[in-house]
Amino acid sequence: MIFKKLKLNINIDDQTFNKLYPEHIKGLSSQHWTPVAVAKIAAKYLADKPDKKILDIGAGAGKFCLVGAASTKGKFYGVEQRSSLVKVSRKIANKYKINNVEFIHSNINETIFTDFDAFYFFNSFYENIDSSCEIDDTVVRDKNLYDVYSNYVREQLDKTPIGTLLVTYWSKWDEIPESFDLMDTAYNGLLNFWRKVS
Ligand SMILES: C[S@@+](CC[C@H](N)C(=O)[O-])C[C@H]1O[C@@H](n2cnc3c(N)ncnc32)[C@H](O)[C@@H]1O
Repeated sequence: MIFKKLKLNINIDDQTFNKLYPEHIKGLSSQHWTPVAVAKIAAKYLADKPDKKILDIGAGAGKFCLVGAASTKGKFYGVEQRSSLVKVSRKIANKYKINNVEFIHSNINETIFTDFDAFYFFNSFYENIDSSCEIDDTVVRDKNLYDVYSNYVREQLDKTPIGTLLVTYWSKWDEIPESFDLMDTAYNGLLNFWRKVS
């Protein structure tokens, strides 16, 4: 019912969507997973043509990808370093037969961005510089990693073709190259829409 409603563009609130998740994942939602309304707007901007390949940089429990896949004609890919979250995301996609989504268990610094057409980023590396926003202790967190990962993403985005679209949510903009221009903004500046122009 949840995915049917998303396909029909009927509003779903976060409490309803989060029923898909086990309790401990649900509990992380308000801080770590994109709200449904934000995911819908971001996905619509990124999936401006059918079959566009959209990468979520740090996919968490798959919320952005699952909402995007159900509400647009894009193909969504989520790279996530925590295997437990990849497992949860895949389980939901399989159970509800969301076929235009794929979850990849990997570190973002092993991902080649030119394999994708558009990108979504929800402040994924912040856990390295703020210990109050820990998801779990299964990965190494280190202040240096914030810069290492942000620099990697910036370099990769800089190699994408002119016209590439990017949406950032709660970002400090450290991962955005000069070659991207800000096209629009929403949610009091928290949600930003970018396009590669040079
Ligand atoms: C704020 S959550 C966002 C989740 C998802 N994009 C969403 O909007 O619902 C950030 C996620 O990025 C993941 N992450 C952080 N650093 C990563 C890295 N270097 N490679 C892959 N995933 C990473 C974290 O494990 C976490 O699940």
